[in-house]
Order: sequence, then structure tokens, then C-alpha cells
Amino acid sequence: MRRKLAAGNWKMNGTAANLAELEAMKDAANTQQTDILICPPTTLLSRAADAVKGSVIAVGGQDCHANASGAHTGDISASMLADAGGSHVITGHSERRVDHGENDADVAAKSTAAYADDLVAVICLGESLEEREAGQTLDVVGTQLAGSTPDAATGANTVLAYEPVWAIGTGKVPTLEQIGEVHDFIRAKLVARFGAEGEKIRILYGGSVKPSNADEIFAVSNVDGALVGGASLKAADFNAIISALDAA
Ligand code: PGA
Repeated sequence: MRRKLAAGNWKMNGTAANLAELEAMKDAANTQQTDILICPPTTLLSRAADAVKGSVIAVGGQDCHANASGAHTGDISASMLADAGGSHVITGHSERRVDHGENDADVAAKSTAAYADDLVAVICLGESLEEREAGQTLDVVGTQLAGSTPDAATGANTVLAYEPVWAIGTGKVPTLEQIGEVHDFIRAKLVARFGAEGEKIRILYGGSVKPSNADEIFAVSNVDGALVGGASLKAADFNAIISALDAA
């Protein structure tokens, strides 16, 4: 049985004032059986790690460099995230792929760097609207999965997140059939490549998850949780999503 995971991605949102939301998540999290992860902006990571100490909430980064250190102005290494109290890092988010031109090889290298510092890589995959409409979804996701997931991936060091680009921050959500089709496809590819270990890697759905649609999404096969953007900024919303996962 895979444990469920509710992961929040605060993106480029949040200053010290937002730590109050984290405190409110922590208060509600004590009785939950679902794993919980918040990825705040890097500026807040160590304060967030302090804030959630003693709770079941883990914190992580939103990106890392493929190298351990060096002349890379503005970048953050996996070891720095670990040093700041992070246990996870999101790699290959579509906003990184689009805004920073990251390709599958980059994402695999970043994920490998994460493993080297004992971080769990949350590797993101997903098609654009054009690709969806052209009937290329499974091809695109399959190619991203193959190229972005290191050979060393295991259920312990890797989480995958299927996030259709057109559903992120738009309020548009694929049908449950569309979500199930892609999650089942990813599961089959993982099992074909990693054998029994492929059954252990969790697959999150991401893209406009909110309290009102969480129940139905979490009932879809091979949906092991969610990667949540906007609705992870408010404790009331995120706690409701965690409750929906607990009940799923
Ligand atoms: P959203 O973002 O929940 O705001 O759509 C999801 C994500 O990008 O991880």
C-alpha cells in the first residue's frame, strides 16, 4: 500500500507572514495519516523547517541545481536545501521547464543531485493544451517520464507528479477519465522499467486541485495524492484537501 501524499508548492509566494498558515496546518496535521509536504520559497525554507519541527509536515525546495556547489549565481544546490531543513525538492515543474528552458536531461540531473543529498525528488510531468488537443498526451508524458526519471529512482527517493500544464492555476481540471488514463499509463511504465519498485513510487495529480474537487480526484486509480499550488497557500483549503486524502 502506498501512503498518500499532500504536497504544497507555494511557488514565488510567501514572506514571513505566511508562516502563520503553516502553523495552522501543523495544528491540524497531528492526527493525519497522510504524508504532508510544503515547498515554500527558498527564503522561507529554514524558518518553515523550524515552524513544522515536531509535526508530520515535511518541507522542501521547488528546484535545485544539478551541481553540488560552484559558480552558479542565484542557484541553490540540493545540499543547501538539505542544510536548511528540506527533505524533498520539486524537479521539472512545468514553470521551470517553460520559464527556464529545462529539458528532461536537466530534470534527471537535478533529481540525481537530490538523491545524492538524500532528498526525495518530486518529478513533474505534463502536457500542454496544444499537445492534449493533438492527441499527444501519452507520448509527451511517456517521453518526459523516461527522460526525467533517473535509473536510481525508488519508491523511497522519488515521487512523480502528473500536472497537465493547462490545468495549472487555471481552474480547469481534466475529466476523471483523463486523469485515470494518464496515471494508469505512468504506473504501467514505472512497473515495466523498475519492476516491483515501480509499484512503490507515488504518483500525484496536480493542477487546480481544491477542496471541492479533491474527493473525486483522489478516488481515481493510481492517484496517490496531490501537488497543490494556489490552494496550499491557505491552511483552511490545504487542510481540507488533506482530510479528503485521509478519507480516500
Ligand atoms: P495549482 O498549481 O494548484 O495552483 O493549479 C499546481 C502546481 O503547479 O503544482
